[in-house]
Amino acid sequence: MKRYAHITGWGKYAPEKILTNDDLSQMVDTSDEWIRTRTGIKTRHIVGEGETTATMSVRAAQAALDVANVTPDQIELIIVATSSPDYLTPSTACLVQNSLGAMRAGAFDLAAGCSGFVYGLGVASALIESGVYDTVLVIGAETVSNFVNWSDRETCVLFGDGAGAVVLQAKEVPGGVLSFVLGADGSGAELLYVPAGGTRQPTSAETVAQGLHFLRMNGRAVFRFAVNIMPRASRQVCEQAGLSLDDIELFIPHQANDRILQASARALNIPTERMFSNLEHYGNTSAASVPIALCEAIEAGLIKRGDHLVMVGFGAGLTWAAAAIQWSMPWPVPGRPWWRKLLRWLYYRWASLRSWTLRVLRGFDSTLRQSEEESQPPKQEKEDAMK
Ligand code: UT7
Repeated sequence: MKRYAHITGWGKYAPEKILTNDDLSQMVDTSDEWIRTRTGIKTRHIVGEGETTATMSVRAAQAALDVANVTPDQIELIIVATSSPDYLTPSTACLVQNSLGAMRAGAFDLAAGCSGFVYGLGVASALIESGVYDTVLVIGAETVSNFVNWSDRETCVLFGDGAGAVVLQAKEVPGGVLSFVLGADGSGAELLYVPAGGTRQPTSAETVAQGLHFLRMNGRAVFRFAVNIMPRASRQVCEQAGLSLDDIELFIPHQANDRILQASARALNIPTERMFSNLEHYGNTSAASVPIALCEAIEAGLIKRGDHLVMVGFGAGLTWAAAAIQWSMPWPVPGRPWWRKLLRWLYYRWASLRSWTLRVLRGFDSTLRQSEEESQPPKQEKEDAMK
């Protein structure tokens, strides 16, 4: 029996703190007028105290699991698409796995810049269709604000923080992810990158003094790449799914610049209303932008059961990705009884208690081993005593 990977749950999270264009004009030489007309952005969300890529991922994931009516122990794989992980190692996906109490899940991060979420969707759907997994959680989450140079007006006005997540599940009903396209061109690696902090230029006082740990971008070159690749990848993914552009009710593109969205709509010969945009409220949230946009499009009632969607992204790498999807979920989602919400809440409390207990036990264990080792006679003395 053929299997199809359907999106059965979705959720988003954006930090409470909002930074307006006027706020930015107090920080760098810019204006609300420049930012609005050149990008379409009016506000963006910025993480508050204690918020990280992992904490935002967990919030978005909990919302998605709730919609899908899936419990964390049903998840078999967690993919977190991010370029702003909590740590260089371990992966943010492992932190999310722990917070959710997703005991049966494998977990890894996926770094494909702003295309990351759509990359993750492709990977997850292939694993589901091939029968490897039944339930996969795909998250796109970013704290770009921690990598932005807040005195560089060419980048700091563009980005925002947030997270979006979907639950993908195997079904025998045709639909879900119909096709996907993944692409890369590493010759453009330095058009959008963080020069230091990796193995090529490890962090040092010098790299920090030179600001090499901040995001650098050749905006014009990325713009040219984007307006070329978005329509190309969209056409290709439709062709692979046996759909025409007219079959697509809504395009959910990576939210980087309204001018890119408009140019792509023109190139595809579709009205701009079919190119969803929520850029004005979020700015560019990198890998989080497509899943956040998906959630907002659903909440706005723009996606009905049976509709065909194209999600398309581009970004650092350079990378690009597109997925054609046939939507199969109703909206609004039927309400869950109060006791289910209570059970979920209890499960998450239990997961954090379990995590805390494991840490404490590991701490005890290593203290115990250390004191045992200290109380043993040194190895040489032992050998002498045995002679
Ligand atoms: O997720 C993928 C990541 N990135 C992208 O998708 C970014 C793609 N690129 C873009 O969206 C656009 O290239 C930008 C929004 C970054 C820049 O827009 P642009 O129309 O390409 O502007 P520009 O770089 O050609 O700069 C035009 C002028 C320059 O001044 P001069 O040289 O003409 O005097 C810039 O210095 O605008 C100036 N400028 C600004 N002025 C006020 C650049 N940034 C700002 C700013 N405020 N924030």
